[in-house]
Amino acid sequence: MKKKLSFFLSLFIALGLSVALTGCNNKSGGAQVGIVLPTREEPRWLQDEAKFRELIEATDYKVEFRFSDGSSAKEKQNVDELVGLGIKVLIICPQKAEEAAASVAAAKDKGVKVISYDRLILGSDAIDYYVTFDSVAVGKAQGQYLIDNASGTNNPLYLYAGGDDDNNAFLFFEGAWSVLQPKIADGTFVIKNSKEAAALRDKQLTTDENRDELEKIIKEITTGWDFNKAKSLAESDMLKASAEDKKEVFVLAPNDGTARAIADVFAVNANGYVITGQDAEKESVQYVIDGKQSMTVFKDTRVLASDVMDMAVAIIEGKTVNAPASYNNGVKDVPSKQTAVVAVDKNNVKKELIDTGYYKESDFAW
Ligand code: BGC
Repeated sequence: MKKKLSFFLSLFIALGLSVALTGCNNKSGGAQVGIVLPTREEPRWLQDEAKFRELIEATDYKVEFRFSDGSSAKEKQNVDELVGLGIKVLIICPQKAEEAAASVAAAKDKGVKVISYDRLILGSDAIDYYVTFDSVAVGKAQGQYLIDNASGTNNPLYLYAGGDDDNNAFLFFEGAWSVLQPKIADGTFVIKNSKEAAALRDKQLTTDENRDELEKIIKEITTGWDFNKAKSLAESDMLKASAEDKKEVFVLAPNDGTARAIADVFAVNANGYVITGQDAEKESVQYVIDGKQSMTVFKDTRVLASDVMDMAVAIIEGKTVNAPASYNNGVKDVPSKQTAVVAVDKNNVKKELIDTGYYKESDFAW
């Protein structure tokens, strides 16, 4: 009898201890958070994935992760599945800004809180929050880099944009245009590949106020975030270019993947080029070290992913959500959290990307 009692006592203590140790660990039930990212084909999202995997390991909540493989239909299927699992918070980076509205509307109907991640979902009232980098600042950093590296007048300028169905492409271009436009108007640069942009050389353009005009430009020079499309655009621009247009050229490339594709074309066609990028993808960091890509913009995905996970946990736990900024998505002002970005070139690549622990020195050939 005594033995039995002490057995139950120790079982009781062991159970109590394990509850105390796991604290509010909710990993055993259904998923509380669902994350949907657009594609594994664009290396940017693999950086986010890596960080999310670490955070998922560390959090007390059960998180389900999905990729949409570049397809809005797959994205919708992912969201429906996650909602079916009973998630409370959906973190979603849309494949296409407007097409994602239907998916998140279905989530909202089931009481799920929706956070737009990195890319804003447009035309939807189903978004509760937006976590993003300062995308206008990305474009400004790119444009400013071209300006800082140009001298004299009549410098050939080639403009390329991101996907015309991605709101970020507008914000990036808006930022770049805000600094480049006065330098186009004063003759420092001459646009070589966009009639639409050249026609607006005297006008500042913002996404909120001049979306239609920006759209005309972006549609003319869109890479669709596709490296092959970027390459063929650059090739056709070089075919049309005079010898004068191929002297040292200045190239606004929207991100690293497209920058490498475009840079490879300019490397064999132009007498020299300055080219922008963004994302600090490993391959582009090597290009920067090798002098094949002039700059990139470092967007620290560690910060973005942990901001959004903190937000999801705050929502689940009914705590105050940290969203001091606001972005309009055409239907509502979405409370947002925004993260700063850093321009990186040969001179500060070590300081920003190695010393901060983002990459290892041994990842690159110096
Ligand atoms: C992201 C960029 C990325 C691009 C292509 C944009 O929405 O902000 O970081 O390079 O999509 O994936």
